[in-house]
Amino acid sequence: MFSKRREDFPTLRAESPPAYLDNACMTLRPDSVIDAIKTYYEQHPGCGGRSVHRYATTVSRKMAGTRRKMAELFNAPNTEEIVFTKNATHSLNQVAKGLSWQKGDVVLTTDREHNSNLVPWLQLEEEFGIDHRIVRSNDDNTFNMENFEKACADAGDKLKMVSLSHVGNLDGVAVPIKQAAKVAKDHGALFCIDGAQSTPHMKVDVQDLGVDFMAFSIHKMMGPSGMGGLWGKMELLENMRSIQSGGSTVQTSHYDSMTWSSPPAKFEGGLGNYAGILGTDAAIDYLSGLNLDDIHQHEVRLNKVMTSIIKDVNGINIIGPTDASKRGGICSVLLDGFDAHDIALILDEAAGVMVRSGMHCVHSWFNDKGIDTGSLRASAYLYNTEEEVKLFAETLVEAVETMS
Ligand SMILES: Cc1ncc(COP(=O)(O)O)c(C=O)c1O
Repeated sequence: MFSKRREDFPTLRAESPPAYLDNACMTLRPDSVIDAIKTYYEQHPGCGGRSVHRYATTVSRKMAGTRRKMAELFNAPNTEEIVFTKNATHSLNQVAKGLSWQKGDVVLTTDREHNSNLVPWLQLEEEFGIDHRIVRSNDDNTFNMENFEKACADAGDKLKMVSLSHVGNLDGVAVPIKQAAKVAKDHGALFCIDGAQSTPHMKVDVQDLGVDFMAFSIHKMMGPSGMGGLWGKMELLENMRSIQSGGSTVQTSHYDSMTWSSPPAKFEGGLGNYAGILGTDAAIDYLSGLNLDDIHQHEVRLNKVMTSIIKDVNGINIIGPTDASKRGGICSVLLDGFDAHDIALILDEAAGVMVRSGMHCVHSWFNDKGIDTGSLRASAYLYNTEEEVKLFAETLVEAVETMS
């Protein structure tokens, strides 16, 4: 469906391109993104939002355009609700550490969160005495709405925040955010989503989902590394403390006082990653030119191919539902008796297949189950082909069977 698009990616134009299946970690970048970064350094390397010379004005204008395009992509009501950040981790930290907390305030997450949506809450528990609680998923890692409703009810009026990954990076399983947000809202709680694994792969409409905050990673959306974003409702951003105060976060300062800037400037202290923002602009253009439903369908189709090859093999256990359509483009497996890193190295050396191995920053899930060998995760994107996922699955099966 997207085979022509492979031509847009320099690494895929190589004579023997790898089968790059580590897209849940970071996607490849098309020429247009690389060109935009180069253009910044070659043609207008100025600092946006500050100086008034031509370089800087060009950057400021482009930054405003990027913000507008991001707001459109996520159907945010107000462009100024989009904050440029370093990554999704930075965005989630801004939410966790920017809001005000009382001892005993309850925050709910699930048992399969990336550290970025777990550690900031654990830190608040350690430092301020908030009460972070885990909502257990079903045995196949799908969201357990009953457990969630009970956790909300148990917390009562202490429930202040629900923060969930929209799609899990461990298993590709999506959480029914719209229904969960409605439950949380009925309990008067704020709702934050970690959109790192959803925004590159599906249409995400923050208003339709009914959430208050969303963190996302640009480097998983074909954009530059070191770029992410935060969307939040304006009235919440206005009242939220900045965790990065300094240049551009205030309108003015005196020896003994200051006047904060309005969002988003209030949160964007210091000179920005301007090359990254302009690369982001090109990435959003690229992604907006594609049909996100088609991307999702393509990934599920590829996932069905890999799943069908490995699902009945002894010693290979898929994390999450066996039905690939419930795992988007992610096929993550536990390997009996093997360290996932060892097999990942074999896949790369023997077949040029690049996947992720380890605990994928979801240590808590592995520790809870006493698994110390990690998992092997193949994650597809629009430019991957059926041949590539077959190569992954067949090489994996061969390696496991030969070494068993
Ligand atoms: C679900 C999820 N949340 C958060 C993150 C962290 O993203 P970032 O590297 O942009 O901070 C990742 C990265 O893999 C992720 O998959």
